[in-house]
Amino acid sequence: MSGHGKGERRAKERRATPKDRRARQAPPPIGKDRRAAADRREIDRRTAGQRLDVILDITRRLMSVTDLDALLKTMAEATASLLAADRATIFVVDRERNELWSRVALGAGEIRFPVGRGIAGTVAQTGEAINIADAYQDARFNSEPDRLSGYKTKTLLTFPMKGNEGRVIGVFQVVNKRGGGAFTSADENTLASLGASAAVAVENAQLVAEQKRLWQSLIETLAITVDARDQQTAGHSQRVTRYAVVIGKALGWEGKDLEKLQAAALLHDYGKIAVRDEFLQKPGKLDDAEFAYMKAHAEKTGEFLQHLVFPHDMREVPMIAAQHHERMDGKGYPKGLGADRIHIGARIVAAADVFDALTAPRYYKPAYPLAKTLEIMDGMAGDHLDPRVMKAVHDALPALEKTIEELKPTWPKPGDQGMGSIAEAAGGLSERDRPSVATPAAEAKP
Ligand SMILES: [Fe+2]
Ligand SMILES: [Fe+2]
Repeated sequence: MSGHGKGERRAKERRATPKDRRARQAPPPIGKDRRAAADRREIDRRTAGQRLDVILDITRRLMSVTDLDALLKTMAEATASLLAADRATIFVVDRERNELWSRVALGAGEIRFPVGRGIAGTVAQTGEAINIADAYQDARFNSEPDRLSGYKTKTLLTFPMKGNEGRVIGVFQVVNKRGGGAFTSADENTLASLGASAAVAVENAQLVAEQKRLWQSLIETLAITVDARDQQTAGHSQRVTRYAVVIGKALGWEGKDLEKLQAAALLHDYGKIAVRDEFLQKPGKLDDAEFAYMKAHAEKTGEFLQHLVFPHDMREVPMIAAQHHERMDGKGYPKGLGADRIHIGARIVAAADVFDALTAPRYYKPAYPLAKTLEIMDGMAGDHLDPRVMKAVHDALPALEKTIEELKPTWPKPGDQGMGSIAEAAGGLSERDRPSVATPAAEAKP
């Protein structure tokens, strides 16, 4: 198929507005022809109406998806079915790098290329659609992906997704119209209708993702800041977070609950920022007054985090974080809460906290092997740790073991300030890491 003349006609059609196209339609019919034309118009109207319904339905669905990857996937599927295309890919413009990227095309992985390159790149640059009836007859078509995947592209419609002030936000690319034939101007109109709301959905999702990144990096920075105050607990908050997530998953947690747990774990020791260096870094035993001062960190965590305006579904984070030294028997701190008043998230963070204190080296003890760690923690179940959480720790052992290996490079090293000589290992936890003054962890009864 040469496609040249058709290509030119289509190019003209593209420039014409739908109103122009309607105006160009047949002159007023007469007699029998008039009825046939009316029927045709009715069919057209019904089809247009149906398409509109579908577009509205897709729009509604798109607006409810705020995760960008999920949105692009939904959008690609909807576009392919709406246009009866074999495949659809949505490319997003990355304005900072002046590139297009997609995660939807040809399975896993992300593809990237500069704006201006290839057909999608050209559409992103010019903001004009490109409708090709035979890809292999078009010099702009890059057949390399076809060659690699064994797929054969024939018809190809590439359409800009425009946001505010006509800015191109992304590009729709639909491939191989089912039942043969090229993509039509009606297909382009459909994409134009979908495009505006799709652009809003993409921009929303990008905004949500940006805010999430900002939020995540903010709380990570807070955690790094507090960990950096004391080299012997370097990386502690990050590790507790990873262990808490593994344990949370073993309890069947997912989504928002895990996010909440993650934030609370990252920030659990934030109150240490207010503990004076002489207590925080003092090797050896703390006297009662010093220990009381050290203990205040959990309360301070809650106090400081009250100043952060958490999103509605994350409101419990300061409370969960502040409860990480509470105990099942009510002998914990700062409040000495009874078991039923300790948030389950705090019980998970408490277990993850002890797990890291035992598995990582501290100035007063070496890194304990997993078996010894579990023996000590099992001894703490009931009085201190929640037995249900401890069951999850056991269920998650392979994942925990793998996570320890991954996190070993973040452990404090013997030469680090405050680490002293690990050979002085005394066994169990120091009072810093211990749940309460009353019951040394290593000797706790089940
Ligand atoms: Fe703590
Ligand atoms: Fe901690």
